[in-house]
Amino acid sequence: MTDISGIVAKMTLEEKAALCTGATSWTTTPVGRLGLPELLVSDGPHGIRRMPNVRVLTQKSLPATCFPTASSLAATWDTALLYEMGQALAEEAIALKVDVILGPGANMKRTPLCGRNFEYFSEDPYLAGELAASLINGIQSKGVGTALKHFAANNQEFERFSINAEIDERTLREIYLPAFETAVTKAKPWSVMCAYNKVNGTYVSEHHHLLTDILKGEWGFEGFIVSDWGAVHDRVAALRAGLDLEMPGPKQARVNAVVEAVRNGELDEAVLDGAVRRIVRIISQAAQTAKGGGFDAAAHHTLARRIAAEGMVLLKNNGLLPLQNPQHIAVIGQAAQLAHFQGGGSSHINPTQVDVPFTELQKLAGNAELSFAPGYAMDDCLNPELIAEAVAAAQAADVALLYIALPDSKESEGYDRPDLNLTQQQVALIQAVTAVQPSTVVILNNGAPVVVRDWIDGTAAILEAWMMGQAGGGAIADILFGRTNPSGKLAETYPVKLTDTPAYLNFPGENGEVHYGEGLFIGYRYYDAKEVPVQFPFGYGLSYTTFAYSNLHVSDTTFKDTDGLVVSVDVTNTGSMTGKEVVQVYVHDQKARLIRPYKELKGFAKVELQPGETKTVSFTLNTRAFAYYDPAYQQWITENGEFDILVGASAADIRCRATVNLQSTLQLPSILHNESTIRAWFNDPVGKTILQPMVVELMSNGGLFNNSDPSYIGMDKLNFLLDLPLRSFLHFQEDFLTQPADDIADMLLRQARSVRQ
Ligand code: BGC
Repeated sequence: MTDISGIVAKMTLEEKAALCTGATSWTTTPVGRLGLPELLVSDGPHGIRRMPNVRVLTQKSLPATCFPTASSLAATWDTALLYEMGQALAEEAIALKVDVILGPGANMKRTPLCGRNFEYFSEDPYLAGELAASLINGIQSKGVGTALKHFAANNQEFERFSINAEIDERTLREIYLPAFETAVTKAKPWSVMCAYNKVNGTYVSEHHHLLTDILKGEWGFEGFIVSDWGAVHDRVAALRAGLDLEMPGPKQARVNAVVEAVRNGELDEAVLDGAVRRIVRIISQAAQTAKGGGFDAAAHHTLARRIAAEGMVLLKNNGLLPLQNPQHIAVIGQAAQLAHFQGGGSSHINPTQVDVPFTELQKLAGNAELSFAPGYAMDDCLNPELIAEAVAAAQAADVALLYIALPDSKESEGYDRPDLNLTQQQVALIQAVTAVQPSTVVILNNGAPVVVRDWIDGTAAILEAWMMGQAGGGAIADILFGRTNPSGKLAETYPVKLTDTPAYLNFPGENGEVHYGEGLFIGYRYYDAKEVPVQFPFGYGLSYTTFAYSNLHVSDTTFKDTDGLVVSVDVTNTGSMTGKEVVQVYVHDQKARLIRPYKELKGFAKVELQPGETKTVSFTLNTRAFAYYDPAYQQWITENGEFDILVGASAADIRCRATVNLQSTLQLPSILHNESTIRAWFNDPVGKTILQPMVVELMSNGGLFNNSDPSYIGMDKLNFLLDLPLRSFLHFQEDFLTQPADDIADMLLRQARSVRQ
């Protein structure tokens, strides 16, 4: 074990300051005399983007496997598979001499318009957290580090370097932080990357509450916090807030500023030492993994194909799929020849090889004859000739396969999407082809939902293939021909149209600010609450077989929050093909003091079943599965009461339910204050016991609130009374009191606060 403190103690002030800012675009500053090597980091997240020259920010990276991007990974709902992919990523990192992979990204899909959603998992924090944790665990199991990013609230690309995200505390805690919290607590990433943006007025790189109080304090994060590339504005302020490593470098002025700040007393050297200790510890850890050698590119390509197939979501199927020996297949769409398998920006991988979808199809098509028409160009211009050519090909075939890829201009890191539509040409193409060929399958390559309502009706089937990684072309063929039974399910809702989406009126913000006005209600939480119909719900995806759910069982109908609850259900494959089902558990709180989403995902499992086979799937729901964050108490709380356990095949397809009674073991302090209303007093268990006898007595003795004859004021006085602060209520009653109203109010408050609930 390296003597971290010993190394730090021997470092000069200049060396310590230099270690906290990168030496190059991708490495930290080595300290040769103490035997401390550099640390080399590379993007991430779905492949290794290792620059041949670490001094250069962007150049063609060394070849590496391009796995499917996060939207696709999330749609697998398969934590074991993500772990396996993590191991493969680590093997490549080792071969390419990379110590830390910059990823995964655990930001929430607040709106499908975010250009970078392809790099993020889900609209649901539970799902995103579990997946991120598995991927990190897989990578780190091989002695390679990760940088969980972009902490926090980097949910749009518009003005991402400067936008101020205004988010209330509860929404942050329940929606935007939990995926990070789960990943940090379950997988202990070596580092966390802070976001560019501001949260509630402060750059995250200078956000003490987020970086130090929450991440390092509450969650016990022990690695180092690295800035996103260029996210630091004031180096000294950032260090004080908890930002350990600034990237990229070199930036001598920043190093000098830190030295100067320590010398003039502006920065406590202990703060610098803390950052240095965290970085040195990870560098020492990384040095224990011997680097170099090769990796099995063919095996990783095969793994990439398996993952891609697991993530593809069959959105519609009238029975055409799997294809039954068609004799003549019209393959239409440029993406059949030029695979669209990844997104633009810092995650762009130089793949080891790329499967051409057309070629892969041909390999499985037996004696069928395949024709090809490009159908569209990657711009948004209408081209009737390309459509006419495609229509002729479709007419001459038994089946038309339309490969539709969203162009880079419509989604990428760095800018948000202008809309949720395919290009005009693509829509016109689908409409024209489906008009002449009812056996048309649309295969989509995109990183986030598209609007399908203008063209879905004419199609026989739709396969969401995502940005599917370098082996995705083969995975599509596997699914179309039934070599793989589709088992992906959506990790994000497909809305009917853009104006239905939760953040529509609060995105992308103006005058430098974006208000998260929809609060907790993103994704299915919003569509549930507003009863807005969706195109395809969260958790949805078809299979070539069918599944039945039965025997929902809960470990107890009445349970203590601290004991948790075990839920089990039987799932049976009722069709004739082996398949996998993603079973989802949602929790619905029947009554809470604060508004809650109708239901929230708290468990999921992917199970493989042979035809006729039944398996029992179990889930453990802990306290947090029933809790919500109450800003009044500044903590997660549980309340006594009934909860429904909803088990289903998607957010809109609940197959079994059970009601359980939770007994909270929490001892909460009273939050009654000077201005608390009678309602608040009555909602507070201690407050109620104290106040009720007095109110009953006052109301029966006459006075303004005597309820004996309501007719002369024409209102329900009891209802009116509930919203009066206790103090005002007492003032109105002063004629009937034996002491001044204020004295009584003070006394009651003291009593309430002295008793813990
Ligand atoms: C991106 C990060 C990335 C970094 C290094 C930034 O612009 O936001 O995700 O890891 O660049 O390429």
